[in-house]
Amino acid sequence: MRAACVSDYRALAKARLPHFLFEYIDGGSYGEVTLERNVADLQAIALRQRVLRDVSAIDTSTALFGQEWAMPVGLGPVGLAGLYARRGEVQAAKAAAAAGVPFTLSTASACAIEEVVGSGAPAWFQLYFVKDRGFVSTMIERAKRAKCGALILTVDLAVPGSRYRDARATGSGLGRIAQYLARPRWLWDVGLNGKPHSLGNLAPIVGNSAPLADFQAWIRANFDPSVTWKDVEWVRAKWDGPLIVKGLLDAQDARQAAAAGADAIVVSNHGGRQLDGVASTASAVPRIAEALGGNCRIFVDGGVRSGLDVVRMLALGADFVLLGRAWAYALAAGGGNAVAHMLKLIEAEMRVAMALTGTTTVAEIGADILDRQATA
Ligand code: FNR
Repeated sequence: MRAACVSDYRALAKARLPHFLFEYIDGGSYGEVTLERNVADLQAIALRQRVLRDVSAIDTSTALFGQEWAMPVGLGPVGLAGLYARRGEVQAAKAAAAAGVPFTLSTASACAIEEVVGSGAPAWFQLYFVKDRGFVSTMIERAKRAKCGALILTVDLAVPGSRYRDARATGSGLGRIAQYLARPRWLWDVGLNGKPHSLGNLAPIVGNSAPLADFQAWIRANFDPSVTWKDVEWVRAKWDGPLIVKGLLDAQDARQAAAAGADAIVVSNHGGRQLDGVASTASAVPRIAEALGGNCRIFVDGGVRSGLDVVRMLALGADFVLLGRAWAYALAAGGGNAVAHMLKLIEAEMRVAMALTGTTTVAEIGADILDRQATA
């Protein structure tokens, strides 16, 4: 099948990955209410169709942090991507660079930051607070040395949300081997030729064997649930580039992030993978935009599966949109080429959505392209 949209890439990823890995990407926490809400609330937003407005020249580019990007879209942090395709983070970073959009490397990636930037592709770095603050400090230094263009500090994982699908699918011993054998293309590409499978950035604290058998237990043991806004200020003092605080849903928290020195926040519920039952990100963006009043840039992620969804998020008040599962599915389905193709699809869909809402620049996309009556 030639993928025509992100859900096609999801189907291809499902056919390509060992079962437990597909479930790790696809699943959310508990009953997956928030995961579904992210997608459903976004899709329910009706746009206002406008006609006869000369949309012959559409410009999707946007400026952010002193740089011009091809569109207000980036690849957000997704852990373990080096298990979805051979050295997956390097492939995705190259695809993003070629498309003129930023790539974010997760703390929990297979490829270390030095491997990604050593390949010639720039990266933003996503940081988690682990208990060992010396390690966190060193990680910030490594991100500086790698000339990462921004630091995304993820703050919604003080403790990991329970994911039933992971618990059911993980398997061990013969069960896990059967999952590998059922996916020979993956086994050859990643299992045999994609080593090492360790968590490159975390090697100094976890060694060279990745805690894949029980990643959630490893997070529980190593992530620091005692973090507060003081720690955000601590990071701010150490990092002089753009600082983006990721994982906010609450207007008061958003104001606090701006006060702690964040240049941007990401409205996010971790793709419905943390606290199930919280609001969708699409519903949270307008109130957060109002609370921030232009004080801090607004990123959002959660449920974005098309260029149309990107335009919806911008119309709700976001400045920039991060993709999560969309690029993870594409990477698993066909490596860097598929990520590049998926980004082309997003851009093409954005162009159509802009043209048919009568907007020709990103700056023109605002609340007036929403059809409030139809949405209600
Ligand atoms: C994530 N997410 C994530 N976030 C983060 O800050 N660091 C990480 O390592 C990860 N890892 C990760 C793995 C997988 C498989 C997924 C699906 C997600 C959350 C991610 O950045 C983003 O918030 C969500 O994926 C957005 O929701 P959608 O677009 O996937 O629906």
